[in-house]
Amino acid sequence: MIKKKFFLNSTILLVILLLAVLIYHCKNPKIESEYLSPAALAIHSNGEQFVGSETCMECHADIYASHMQTAHLNTSSPGNAESIKGSFEKGSNILDLESVAFKMLPKDGSFYQHTEIKNRLLEKPPARFDIVIGSGVRGQSYLTWEEDKLFQLQASYYTPTNSWVNSPGFPSYSLDRPIRDACIKCHVTFVKNKDFSGQGNTYEKSQFIYGVDCERCHRPAKKHVVFHRNNPSELKAQFMIKYDTLSRQQRLDACAQCHSGPRDRILQGNSFSFLVGNNLNEYARNFYKGNQNTPLDVHGNQYGLLTKSECFKQTKTMDCATCHNPHKNERGETGSFNQKCIACHTESVICTGESDKIQQMGNNCIACHMPTTPSKSMTVQLASDSLETSFNIRTHLIAIYRNDN
Ligand code: HEC
Ligand code: HEC
Ligand code: HEC
Ligand code: HEC
Ligand code: HEC
Ligand code: HEC
Ligand code: HEC
Repeated sequence: MIKKKFFLNSTILLVILLLAVLIYHCKNPKIESEYLSPAALAIHSNGEQFVGSETCMECHADIYASHMQTAHLNTSSPGNAESIKGSFEKGSNILDLESVAFKMLPKDGSFYQHTEIKNRLLEKPPARFDIVIGSGVRGQSYLTWEEDKLFQLQASYYTPTNSWVNSPGFPSYSLDRPIRDACIKCHVTFVKNKDFSGQGNTYEKSQFIYGVDCERCHRPAKKHVVFHRNNPSELKAQFMIKYDTLSRQQRLDACAQCHSGPRDRILQGNSFSFLVGNNLNEYARNFYKGNQNTPLDVHGNQYGLLTKSECFKQTKTMDCATCHNPHKNERGETGSFNQKCIACHTESVICTGESDKIQQMGNNCIACHMPTTPSKSMTVQLASDSLETSFNIRTHLIAIYRNDN
């Protein structure tokens, strides 16, 4: 009797549950189809579709979680109270230059740069902090929309002094700087310029993917997501480029697209045409300004410097991933970097530097062989009367620096 009642109860419960599911699905047919075929956030010029890292989360939870903490993902974002590092507090919200002063003020949850041109009645409307460029390790720059045209704000933020500074390369008077693909290409996953060549600063605002997200390093991945959501038992990756089958140069190019200098000489398509797996030199190269042998600058050219190092030249497999985990924020993990040096150098070459000194420095190989070096191209002016200050960047020319010891 009890058994029968239990059976009846569970059947009723099951029927109710099935009905609920049925009603839910009839009412929301979109939800399931959107899951099985997520909407594209943007479409690359070759037709491949971006779906964003949120779609990766369910199947690559660990990588997704650590990727959220990286400077890559956070290198651009919408402007808001969390993302903007500069201060809007009275007293520290002013950037005063020779013939112009800027005041940073919040209003209704948004943030604005007000321009006061000294000794003139000319008025400029306040410009909103719409986009933040830079995770804030060294500093941030800010962009503003005028309709669908993108401009850089003159005020930037400099982390070491926790203050507003004149944006690198700006004069000390007020200037509107249009932002084209050539500037933004390394700080976003994808944007669609209305002018295919990327020369203009008018964008499709709806096709704007912030941060260096999964699909910038793994190509637009809609087909991969759709396939695996529809075939959950398939355990082998489909429609996804496999790094372990790429050549060393292809693996390097995946990082070199943003870490080998500006590459502003476009040979094919536009700044976003190159995708991992292609040959980067066929898409874009650096302009050589004058002498081909001018020393490489430390800013943004880790690729050029590393490939000039003996460690790179005399091994067949070294690439960026030999030392870096691309999914992890490794800032300050000096110990783990030194382990990478030691792993190779115990068997091959042992340090011939004075061993006392090396012991004293706790085997800090990189302190002596990859010293931080001031950049010549990345400088900021702190105030109207100060000289330019350089950003210090870790050189990737692994070598013997005798003068530093
Ligand atoms: C419905 C599940 C699912 C979703 C969603 C998904 N993947 Fe995958 N992915 C897999 C499976 C299964 C594999 C193969 C097993 C593995 O390597 O984890 C894989 C493997 C990979 C690989 C390794 C390829 C190789 O063999 O070297 C990459 C890279 C990858 N996925 C990227 C992504 C990205 C980026 C996204 C989001 C845009 C994503 N995946 C979304 C299921 C999924
Ligand atoms: C789309 C351009 C782009 C690609 C592709 C790219 N990077 Fe970066 N990377 C950046 C930018 C921009 C920053 C500066 C981020 C910031 O702090 O705002 C950066 C920062 C870094 C940092 C410093 C992180 C920190 O915590 O400060 C490392 C290390 C790095 N990249 C390594 C790599 C490696 C390795 C690859 C290839 C697997 C790669 N990057 C691919 C643009 C890129
Ligand atoms: C060729 C790729 C590339 C281009 C183009 C580029 N950047 Fe960067 N940017 C980087 C990299 C890489 C870094 C990290 C520091 C480094 O390695 O030199 C960086 C760092 C920065 C930082 C400091 C970020 C931080 O968290 O400390 C700011 C701000 C910045 N860039 C703004 C800009 C602006 C504004 C433009 C356009 C005028 C621009 N960048 C163009 C690659 C690029
Ligand atoms: C800066 C570039 C970059 C970004 C951003 C990035 N990856 Fe990767 N990913 C790589 C590289 C390079 C490898 C190959 C590493 C190796 O061979 O050691 C890789 C390997 C993988 C693998 C296979 C190996 C493993 O570690 O399981 C998966 C899966 C993967 N990535 C998923 C993702 C997902 C999901 C995201 C976003 C949440 C993401 N990646 C973001 C560069 C990147
Ligand atoms: C993949 C293996 C590998 C890794 C990892 C590696 N090296 Fe090397 N390194 C080499 C090889 C091979 C040479 C060339 C040996 C020779 O000079 O005969 C070399 C040469 C050097 C030299 C001599 C450079 C010169 O110009 O004479 C120094 C210094 C050095 N490495 C330091 C480092 C440091 C510091 C690290 C960690 C940041 C490191 N290496 C990581 C393989 C490696
Ligand atoms: C031999 C090891 C090694 C290799 C290979 C290597 N790096 Fe690094 N990288 C380091 C070390 C060590 C640091 C400093 C980390 C720190 O200071 O916390 C670093 C820092 C960086 C930074 C941050 C620089 C700064 O000062 O903010 C970037 C960007 C970067 N690497 C990109 C790359 C790229 C791109 C490649 C491939 C072309 C690459 N790295 C290859 C060891 C390496
Ligand atoms: C206190 C600074 C310092 C530290 C720390 C240091 N080195 Fe050196 N290293 C030197 C100097 C200086 C030389 C050049 C010695 C000479 O030729 O007179 C050198 C030489 C080398 C060489 C070249 C040897 C040859 O025969 O050409 C390698 C490889 C090397 N170091 C690797 C390392 C590794 C790996 C570490 C970390 C375990 C390390 N160094 C830590 C200062 C240092």
